[in-house]
Amino acid sequence: MSLTRVHNLSISLDGFATGEPQSAEAPFGHAGQRLHEWMFRTRFWDQGGTTGVDDAFAERHSVGIGAEIMGANKFGPPGWQDDPDWKGWWGTEPPFHTPTFVLTHRPRPSIDLEGGTTFHFLDASPADALEAAREAASGQDVRIGGGATVVRDFLAAGLVDQMHVVQVPLVLGRGVRLWDGLEGLEDSYDVEAVSSPSGVVHLTFRRALA
Ligand SMILES: NC(=O)c1ccc[n+]([C@@H]2O[C@H](COP(=O)([O-])OP(=O)(O)OC[C@H]3O[C@@H](n4cnc5c(N)ncnc54)[C@H](OP(=O)(O)O)[C@@H]3O)[C@@H](O)[C@H]2O)c1
Repeated sequence: MSLTRVHNLSISLDGFATGEPQSAEAPFGHAGQRLHEWMFRTRFWDQGGTTGVDDAFAERHSVGIGAEIMGANKFGPPGWQDDPDWKGWWGTEPPFHTPTFVLTHRPRPSIDLEGGTTFHFLDASPADALEAAREAASGQDVRIGGGATVVRDFLAAGLVDQMHVVQVPLVLGRGVRLWDGLEGLEDSYDVEAVSSPSGVVHLTFRRALA
């Protein structure tokens, strides 16, 4: 069965998955790169990187994934919809290598890029977007790639089977929160925590059996 999964979603101690304001110069606003420093040090990110706990969690991101769904604010900075040439942050060969569905209220024609990534633009409910992504994933799992708003909406709709959240020991104070409106979420999941010597805590949520 095709699962819906979230991976490497990094949040501050106060629950923010990005800082503010988001811009072309600072995609994560005042958070800079601090939410993902744990990941940049791993072999998953860099051939010469570490192979410990953080790498073991990070590399699960790409295994068995046949499509991704992301939000408009992950795909580009505010206003990208006004630039007909914007193709995402990732250059000519994005790291997704699958059909990738961008949720936006201003959809545009699909873009085919090198390495197997095709961006499709959808104005659709989470359930309808998931149906389209599942069809494109050819039996493999669908990753909800973020940002916080889209992951929160998919959690609220009960559509996420597995989620890996990385709690990073910093207090951002402002930005976009993951947990707002999700009171009691833990009742629907089996939750495990693994602390890493790097200082982050890997939280895994697996949908609890009814
Ligand atoms: N911490 C992490 O691990 C992590 C992971 C991924 C991304 N990020 C960061 O998170 C930030 C983006 O997160 P975010 O919460 O601001 O935004 P987001 O989740 O990327 O995108 C939200 C936007 O997507 C569009 N959208 C969402 N649902 C839709 C639907 N059902 N139908 C049509 N359009 C829909 C809307 O944009 P429009 O109305 O403008 O179309 C909405 O404002 C970026 O800074 C990114 O770099 C962090």
